[in-house]
Amino acid sequence: MSKWLFFATMCVVGWPAQAHNLMPAPAKMTPGSGRLPVDGSFRIGFESYQEPRLKSAAARLLRQIVHQTGIPIAADLPGDASSAALLIHCDHAGAAVQNLREDESYRLSVTSRQARLTAATPLGVLRGLATFAQLVEPDAQGFGIAAVEIEDSPRFPWRGLMIDVARHFIPLPVLKRHLDGMAAVKLNVFHWHLSDDQGFRVESRKFPKLHQMGSDGRYFTQDQVRELLAYARERGIRVVPEFDMPGHTSAWFPGYPELASGPGPHQIERRWGIFDPCMDPTREEVYRFLDTFIGEMAALFPDEYFHIGGDEVNGKLWSSIPRFAEFKQKHGMKSNEDLQAYFSRRVQALVQKHGKKTIGWDEILHPDLPKSIVVHSWRGQKSLAEAARMGFSGILSNGYYLDLSHPAGEHYLVDPLGDAAAALTPEQKKLVLGGEACMWMEYATERNVDDRIWPRTAAIAERLWSPQELRDVPDMYRRLAVAGRTLDWTGVDHQWQYEQALQRLAGVHPVEPVRVLAEVVEPIKNYGRGQARSYTQQTPLNRLVDTALPSSDRAREFSDLIDRLPASSAEVRRWILLWRDNDARLRPWFAGSALLAEAAPVSANLAAVAAAALEALDYRESGQHPTAEWRQEKLALLDRAARPQAEVLLSVVPPVRKLIESVR
Ligand code: ACM
Repeated sequence: MSKWLFFATMCVVGWPAQAHNLMPAPAKMTPGSGRLPVDGSFRIGFESYQEPRLKSAAARLLRQIVHQTGIPIAADLPGDASSAALLIHCDHAGAAVQNLREDESYRLSVTSRQARLTAATPLGVLRGLATFAQLVEPDAQGFGIAAVEIEDSPRFPWRGLMIDVARHFIPLPVLKRHLDGMAAVKLNVFHWHLSDDQGFRVESRKFPKLHQMGSDGRYFTQDQVRELLAYARERGIRVVPEFDMPGHTSAWFPGYPELASGPGPHQIERRWGIFDPCMDPTREEVYRFLDTFIGEMAALFPDEYFHIGGDEVNGKLWSSIPRFAEFKQKHGMKSNEDLQAYFSRRVQALVQKHGKKTIGWDEILHPDLPKSIVVHSWRGQKSLAEAARMGFSGILSNGYYLDLSHPAGEHYLVDPLGDAAAALTPEQKKLVLGGEACMWMEYATERNVDDRIWPRTAAIAERLWSPQELRDVPDMYRRLAVAGRTLDWTGVDHQWQYEQALQRLAGVHPVEPVRVLAEVVEPIKNYGRGQARSYTQQTPLNRLVDTALPSSDRAREFSDLIDRLPASSAEVRRWILLWRDNDARLRPWFAGSALLAEAAPVSANLAAVAAAALEALDYRESGQHPTAEWRQEKLALLDRAARPQAEVLLSVVPPVRKLIESVR
């Protein structure tokens, strides 16, 4: 078959399942013939436009390849153009401050002689290098890249990851490795949620009591902020700061009580939830303060956008203190929503005065705001479409909340231009700029944030980068497993964090039985943890629920095995026996371990569910039929085992239910 005919066929029938391991998948990809070896002679060369950030990106790629392959490769850069294994051509410089209109497209052509990466801008080169890094794979001759032609550009210009550093502080080195992970999957906006009820996390020289009295000493100095900004720019990532207001502001008030709606006393909030303290939108003094503060932060953060939060104002103080009723009446306002809209307008004007555009959570959506603002949709996809119909740009985070412990496959199918946007005109659709994965930090710390964020975020990154019609969930999971491993070569620590958490739980005991249990449980979903017990910032997050990954690959794979019965029978039996017998290995440790003790009923449930699964498998294989009572009893057992215990869910219950229901 000619190469052209092969490509045409692939376009019609889709890529074969093993076609590539890239994530996000490129817009266009044509396989070639042969392979480019990656060995000790590998060099990177440049032609035409050059700048330091391209050289450091090439050096990072080399380091990553050395790390991944174990092959010593000389770090001399640039190699000469004719002998370079990877030749980079960049047309011209990028914008002095990265913006969302910049061209990120690139072309990558790999033959058995050379790889050529061509892009108009340094951003395109960075995206192409991320692809190149994912193409390096072990093969029969060592390491190499299968010949390929790639033409690629993003579907959406705004592809973000938000990290909340207020609930639990995340130190700079940890943030940096998330930026490395972002760059590896072509995300281009780091949304830095810098203040909330539980912490004010950036140094203010104009108002030093903000970080001095609002952070327990855990904040980023302005020098550290600049260090992170430079780190992000090197990787083609914009940094959008968020200062959430007028709600979620308890941590501002110990230092500056005059900003608050209520009389105090004020303190940093230690619990999770929505609290009454909020800024006073009626006092001019508050806007004078914010004018100076926003001016200071607008000068520190170069991005054209400034996030003002605006979410979850409960309005209790505005309803109970007479001063606010008088203000509302005097200004013809009917509700607290009107009062918040007034605040948003005033703050938006200050943001604009300091040369920035406003972005805020969807509560700020109001027809009176100028069309330059961006609405950040978190409560539902409808607000994104509604904003677009009103002429506002928007980004989507509803459906991309990593902290709610949903599987990657669910996030993957959430589309910023999904059903809610179907009725938009082409012009309105252009106002949908993309989306952001959000990592709220109530139930995560720097010690497990990597394995909460990764690898699921790679699936969201693909949704935001790759063609809309790409919706093959099994193939996404296949590639996500590869991406999860290669992310490790970039410095993301998710695999190691998981191992450490297992070891913490196991203590002096062998880790394997703990792993067997942890692999088949998931944290309860959505906001269930806050309802299960009362948490504070000081509550240790070191339990099974903090160890278990947000969604169980083992349970998903087991479910696939059940679907493939009877061919998969031996493998199904092997898992079931492992789970049935695991409790006997763990049980002796429960009495002596406060951390493990709460897992006792979970482990017992796993054994009971596995025993029921074994009976069902035996019935299937013997061709005998169970009684109706047997079925009823087993299904009742599954109902009990499906209830949350110790804030985890036993994720093999649904596939075992399938197995039991399959026995007639
Ligand atoms: C939010 O989750 N309150 C934006």
